[in-house]
Amino acid sequence: MIWKDWVRSVEVEPSLYAADFARLGDQIRKLLDAGVRIFHFDVGDGHFVPPVTIGPVVLRSIAPMIHEAGGKLDCHLMVDDPAHHFREIAGSGGDSVTFHVEATGDVDSLAAGARDLGLGVGVAFNPGTEPDAAAQAASQVGADLCLCMSINPGYSGQELMADAYGRIARLRSLVDCFVQVDGGVKESNVARLREVGADLLVVGSGIFGQSDLEDAYRRLRQRVE
Ligand code: DX5
Ligand code: ZN
Repeated sequence: MIWKDWVRSVEVEPSLYAADFARLGDQIRKLLDAGVRIFHFDVGDGHFVPPVTIGPVVLRSIAPMIHEAGGKLDCHLMVDDPAHHFREIAGSGGDSVTFHVEATGDVDSLAAGARDLGLGVGVAFNPGTEPDAAAQAASQVGADLCLCMSINPGYSGQELMADAYGRIARLRSLVDCFVQVDGGVKESNVARLREVGADLLVVGSGIFGQSDLEDAYRRLRQRVE
């Protein structure tokens, strides 16, 4: 469990997939100055999810500035073959990998492979997967976090699904690790997501879609603290 040393009981994690890539460094700097310590980084392969998203090349450019400020990069692997990407992600500055229970590979060897490279370990599950199945996998491998998707993964800017609250509450009752939620998290629903048990709140368009990023981040934090 390495996330225990990073998390200040609750974290709002900006999802960089929703950033303006023409201004990526400036946007990260602003959020670091506002107090962000963990950034969420979505790797999508065009198979597990329809789009190709961002990957190690981008990670390598941004990791030094984030690490110098004491920050971490939480990599969400929306890919068919997570193990294939671990070494390059670790070598490019990723700090943790979250793989999906719906992806290829047995969870014990995936978790062991990630840990061998010094990476944190997360287990994610899609809206069509029972929380119980993901909780079982997360507990089996002693995961740092279990990620409940509150949208079908692939794109920023979707609405949180209404059943997410119940699924998070169920997950919270089953696991000891951090509970993460990703998809459609906004100022209007973040407090309720916290109440039902989420510790790590991933926010894409709810931050990067706002004109003042620092203010958006601070308001989200105030609602969950
Ligand atoms: C999409 C990604 C998310 C995405 C969230 O599948 O996993 O991290 O960037 O964006 P919002 O908060 O806009 O739903
Ligand atoms: Zn994500």
